[in-house]
Amino acid sequence: MSSSVPSVRPIGEVLISARPFADGVAQFALRPDELTTGPVLDCPGGAGDFGATVRDLGGRAVSVDPCYVDSPEELATRVGAELDRVQAWTSSQPSRFPLDARGVWEQVPVWRSTAARFLDDYAADRGNATGHYVGAALPHLPFPDGTFTLALSGFLLFTYPDHFDEDFHLRAITELLRVAAEVRLHPLNDSAGNRYPHLDRLLDDLRARGVTCRLLEVTGRSDPRDDATLRLTRS
Ligand SMILES: C[S@@+](CC[C@H](N)C(=O)[O-])C[C@H]1O[C@@H](n2cnc3c(N)ncnc32)[C@H](O)[C@@H]1O
Repeated sequence: MSSSVPSVRPIGEVLISARPFADGVAQFALRPDELTTGPVLDCPGGAGDFGATVRDLGGRAVSVDPCYVDSPEELATRVGAELDRVQAWTSSQPSRFPLDARGVWEQVPVWRSTAARFLDDYAADRGNATGHYVGAALPHLPFPDGTFTLALSGFLLFTYPDHFDEDFHLRAITELLRVAAEVRLHPLNDSAGNRYPHLDRLLDDLRARGVTCRLLEVTGRSDPRDDATLRLTRS
């Protein structure tokens, strides 16, 4: 690798990722009962199988993402291109992402099978109008106050500092707390692994609005630096 190429690079445009359910459980420090106690919101859901798996376990889950305005065929094409993009991005950073003998990040096959499961479930949802996948974007969610017991937001707010600023973070979190009694956000780093620099100010703002904030220590599944989750509850 040329010395002018940094070993850790941000990913650029917001990725439609396909993290498996087990990553969500680990990164949000979820107990099994928290998945089935009440309705869970996964926002953004991306091409992951979190919602489908919660439903398989007997829980209720709704996934929200602006990409869910696409038809199943359109989304399948986009997700395929996004998986190729993440494969290229991770392959270019071998010191950060463990690669297999072919030079492919070890998690890529898992992401591909997760995306396949998601795309099947998404197509079934569009056929049956089950409402499991809602096309919408933070900071506006089309749900009444208190619809969910828990809202999870992974790899969006702090991941893309070039796309989302402090004002957006506060408005998005306020909206998530409007629709859910508890919100968990992960990671607190950007896609290059840098900690969100305005966390203290954000926590002060939230506490001033009566929000209880706790930092949970977790194990990052795709990057060990992603070792914290923010747990927020309304008073
Ligand atoms: C990196 S993925 C995260 C998906 C999943 N939570 C995960 O951890 O794998 C980011 C997702 O955010 C979605 N997105 C972009 N802007 C958004 C917004 N304003 N509100 C909600 N989701 C958004 C994208 O479409 C994309 O699917």
